[in-house]
Amino acid sequence: MPVNNPKSGQPSPEVQPHLGKVIGVSVAAAVGGLLFGFDTAVVNGAVDAIQEDFGLGEAVLGFTVAITLLGCAAGAWFAGELADRLGRKRVMFGAAVLFLVNSVGSGFAISEWDLMLWRLVGGVAIGVASVIAPGYIAEIAPAKWRGGLASIQQLAITVGIFAALLSDAWLADLAGGAAGELWWGLSAWRWMLLVGVVPAIIYGVLSLTIPESPHYLIRGGRDAEAAHVLSRVTGIRDTSTKLAEIRSTLRMEDRTSLRDLRGSVLGLQPILWVGMAVAALQQLVGINAIFYYSTTLWQSVGFSESDSFTTSVITSIINVAMTFVAIFFVDRIGRRKLLLVGSAGMFAGLLAATVSFAQATGSGADVSLPGIWGPVALVGANLFVVFFAATWGPVMWVTLGEMFPNKIRSIALGVATMVNWIFNFIVTLAFPWVSENLGVWIMYAVFTGFAVVSFWFVKTRLQEYAGRELEDREDLIPVR
Ligand code: GLC
Repeated sequence: MPVNNPKSGQPSPEVQPHLGKVIGVSVAAAVGGLLFGFDTAVVNGAVDAIQEDFGLGEAVLGFTVAITLLGCAAGAWFAGELADRLGRKRVMFGAAVLFLVNSVGSGFAISEWDLMLWRLVGGVAIGVASVIAPGYIAEIAPAKWRGGLASIQQLAITVGIFAALLSDAWLADLAGGAAGELWWGLSAWRWMLLVGVVPAIIYGVLSLTIPESPHYLIRGGRDAEAAHVLSRVTGIRDTSTKLAEIRSTLRMEDRTSLRDLRGSVLGLQPILWVGMAVAALQQLVGINAIFYYSTTLWQSVGFSESDSFTTSVITSIINVAMTFVAIFFVDRIGRRKLLLVGSAGMFAGLLAATVSFAQATGSGADVSLPGIWGPVALVGANLFVVFFAATWGPVMWVTLGEMFPNKIRSIALGVATMVNWIFNFIVTLAFPWVSENLGVWIMYAVFTGFAVVSFWFVKTRLQEYAGRELEDREDLIPVR
């Protein structure tokens, strides 16, 4: 059914989507997500060996790991503006080059200092890719499939995390430990980081083959090319109406810049606040406390090393599998319902984990969960992952890609994504410290609290964007 554009009052042009093409293009863009997942997770298996080889103290080691997340925030900040200036494809290609430099540089690092530098570069690449994929997919996808297609990025992220876990374990196994030697006299941990070269090259090659976004082309006056992409990929029949519609929502006079985000609520556009809050909440429920620390977490509550690893593998498989639930439902029942169900489910899982961790006895290396509390914590944490993966994981990225008006979409998406990375950084730094000094359960209690806030926020502040054209965002009115 055609959707009315509130600006023109006219029905939007008829669409006959080319499923194969549009999926192919979205998958190609989402390979950036694979690198995002892989490069954020791969260091887990390497970290102890790096500490040993370079003789690092806890603080320097922690910083070497976390510096990537700062790079991500920086990359996201610049990505939006660059995407508007240089085009989505060029920026993707640039990110692929940075991914490559990061893998090679870190794999051959000679000290903690150059390792930090390469990891920072890798972070910038991840940050850029995390902005480009949702924006580009939203621009190229037909409205009725946009949610499912944009969720492919999250699927790729989860597959990347899983691949890093397996590849690390496999290489460590071959070498008899991450510090053991493998081919060409290089330690296994170096090979763990070098593996990233393969997806980086694939990403670079694919970025050259996919079509440019119609919105970027129209902004540059390249209407004929835009019409071609709209009809061949998006499947729009009446391209001239669509072209006019997009043009009327873009800022054509001069370049968009961060200045366009200024507005009436505390100096910023209200819609940007909504985007930033959704982005922050996705991290504040604590998902990466599980993905970055799970093996250590389970060991610290008394699981053996191999049981902890098995648990991490199972959690990671759940994370991949549940993303399909979002792909299936996000366009059928809409973003808000999914997010609300997700918040409720995450709350239940996090609460169970909080109560269990509060029963921990002993301290330091002797801490353990008595009786049934170990299994309850395990089930609670995995229940949380089930709901996150089926809802907030993908739907946050879908929403950021589609919620902003065309005029400011790239830039606002960049800034909101940066906020996501900053909160990721904060949780990642806070988790080990709070767990050590105040107890794991306190951290989980905080996550539980944010699950409640996330429910309230979606209920009261977030609009439904399912099925609506990108062109029908009534400028900057965020409240339902
Ligand atoms: C989402 C989050 C990311 C997290 C991942 C886990 O993409 O943004 O931080 O690591 O989900 O699957």
